[in-house]
This record gives sequence, structure tokens and C-alpha cells, in this order.
Amino acid sequence: MIGFIGYGNMGGALVRAFLSHGIPADEIVISTRSPEKLKSLLDEYSVSVGSMNEVQSADILFLCVRSSDALDVLKQLTSFKGHLVSINGGISLNDLSSIYSGPVTKAMPPLTAEVGRGIVLLCHNQICSTSKIIEELFSKVCSVEILPEDKFPDAENITGCAPAFFARFAEMLAESSNFSSEESLKMAKETLIATALLLDEGKLSLNDLIEKVATKGGITEKGLQVMDDELPSTVKKMYEHMH
Ligand SMILES: NC(=O)c1ccc[n+]([C@@H]2O[C@H](COP(=O)([O-])OP(=O)(O)OC[C@H]3O[C@@H](n4cnc5c(N)ncnc54)[C@H](OP(=O)(O)O)[C@@H]3O)[C@@H](O)[C@H]2O)c1
Repeated sequence: MIGFIGYGNMGGALVRAFLSHGIPADEIVISTRSPEKLKSLLDEYSVSVGSMNEVQSADILFLCVRSSDALDVLKQLTSFKGHLVSINGGISLNDLSSIYSGPVTKAMPPLTAEVGRGIVLLCHNQICSTSKIIEELFSKVCSVEILPEDKFPDAENITGCAPAFFARFAEMLAESSNFSSEESLKMAKETLIATALLLDEGKLSLNDLIEKVATKGGITEKGLQVMDDELPSTVKKMYEHMH
């Protein structure tokens, strides 16, 4: 049985990702503070909804509440005996292991797991038979990268946060146009999706794609020159602010 505590942005994305990639609904049990938010999931899948007590009999338990609530919730799990997976940024394996003495995996999954893509970062507090099961489970919905815990912040800037950065940049491009916001947002979104598909299916590197669009002396090249001058210091500042 696979349990989830918390059904918000990430808990919801993970549950839906596992369900649409072959994990049977009758192997999933969810406990969350506002069960009414499970309605549309329950219309589609016959997962179980359980109390905090019931979810503790799961073999694998995903802790998907916010980081500020995670340790308090973990302290309530007095009968859980399985493999704990915490997706909480900012909470260390040491913090988790000081409360729960069994096997723990720190995972940083991407929201994009819901569409079966992206990279999950994993780090286990001990290698045991269930560590492999956790890796196999995630590999159904995204690529798996095992990393030492101290490398998480650098990697998650890209694997975890960048979907929001890419989307915000597309919004900014739209907002700077003279079209209505509905039209320009549609153009920006469609172009973002098409770019990702081209990178994926055309097997282009990021730089190949840049060179193909930015014709020598053309307007894209001029725009890129400004980006290259101005944006690296902004990105550096963003990363400094985040950690
Ligand atoms: N969003 C991402 O892309 C992403 C990626 C990787 C990791 N993460 C990590 O995932 C964690 C959750 O983020 P999120 O964006 O999914 O947060 P969220 O949308 O606020 O979801 C948190 C969920 O936990 C529930 N909850 C809170 N306290 C609870 C309790 N005591 N018992 C049971 N359920 C409880 C909330 O219930 P209510 O519905 O009542 O609020 C909500 O369903 C964070 O630590 C974040 O760092 C997020």
C-alpha cells in the first residue's frame, strides 16, 4: 500500500502521476486536511481516503504537507513502520531521521511528473530493499537522479523551480506585447510548449535551438544580446535569494 499525507499541488501531481502510469488505485490511500479537495480525483479513481491513523499502515508513505507542517505531522506517525518519503524542501534527512528511525528518502519531484516528464532528485538515509522500490516507483513517472543531499539546492533550482521560471518568463514576454493579454498569453504558452517539443523530438541541444532561431544580424540575435548582458546577474540574485 502507498500512502500520501497531504493532497495539495505536489501531493496531487504525484498521486495523479502514479495513477496514470500504472499504479493501481486500490494500492493508494490518501489522508489530507481538506478531503473535499479529493472530489475530482475520486470521480475518476477508486483510491482510498483514510485518517492519519489509517494511512500509517502503508508500506511507503509520502509526506506531502508544507515544509512548515512536516515535522509536526511526522511526530504524529507513531505506528508507521514502512519507508518514509519526504518531498519537503528545506527539511534534512537528519531532521527526519531524528523523529522517524526507519528508512527515509528525501525526494524533490517536479510538478511536471504529472505528465510523466522531468527529473526527481532522491537521497536515501540508508540503502535498503525498499530504496530500490522507491527509485522504481519514481522512474515510472520521471527520470531519477540520485544525489548527495548537499547537492539538492543547486539541482532543484533547475529541476524543481524552473517550470515556474519558464512560465513567468513566457508571461513577461506576453505582457510586453501590444496584443490583448488573452491573445499574447496564448501565443507565449503555445510557443513554450512547441519549443519544449522541438528540443525533445528534434534532439536539439539548447544551443542548437538558439543558433537556429537567432539568424546572424536578425532581431532575435539583438534580443539575445540584451539578455546575455542583463539576465545572468538577475539569475545569480534569484539563486542567492532562494537559499
Ligand atoms: N509545488 C512544487 O512544485 C513542489 C515541488 C517539489 C517539492 N515541493 C514540496 O512539497 C511540499 C508541499 O508543497 P505544495 O505546493 O504541494 O503545498 P500545498 O499545495 O499547500 O499542499 C499541502 C497539502 O497538505 C495538506 N496538509 C497540511 N497540513 C496537514 C495535516 N496536518 N494533515 C494532513 N494534511 C495536511 C494541505 O491541506 P489543505 O488542502 O487543507 O491546505 C494540502 O493538501 C512543500 O514542502 C514543497 O517544498 C513542492
